Amino acid sequence: MAPETTLYELAGGTPFFEALVARFYDGVERDEVLRPLYPQDLGPSRRNLALFLAQYWGGPATYDQERGQPQLRMRHFPFAIGPAERDRWLLLMRRALASLDPAPAVAGAFEEYLSTAAEALRNRD
Ligand code: HEM
Repeated sequence: MAPETTLYELAGGTPFFEALVARFYDGVERDEVLRPLYPQDLGPSRRNLALFLAQYWGGPATYDQERGQPQLRMRHFPFAIGPAERDRWLLLMRRALASLDPAPAVAGAFEEYLSTAAEALRNRD
């Protein structure tokens, strides 16, 4: 992998992140633990998460332009995220990721990031 290759590019660019988030939210829609935490209209949630992840992995900075600094811990304070919610979120995201059969480097980087970030966003025991 050339040093300038971003994980965003390696994963396949914006279509990959859109597909990942679409599959993740298809899971949220049917999930009794997570669905109540999310707004009725999941459209903006889909867009924001796809843009955030694409930006995080080296893609366009559209998330920052539309939403400002991510400040994810602050943005998650309104939602009660305990171990059950964290684990549920991770399960659905891991399933969505696996369904896209990403390259091993993408799968590995995502796994490390997701597990650390999800725990960092837990705000309840
Ligand atoms: C790797 C871990 C996570 C990342 C990277 C992440 C990322 C994000 C992002 C980027 C947003 C949109 C923020 C905005 O612009 O308004 C968001 C919203 C949200 N997240 Fe997370 N999140 C993570 C974990 C979790 C977990 C564990 C939960 C547990 C239930 C959760 C629940 C929510 C909810 C309820 C929203 C609000 C949805 C909305 O208003 O659109 N997130 N998250």
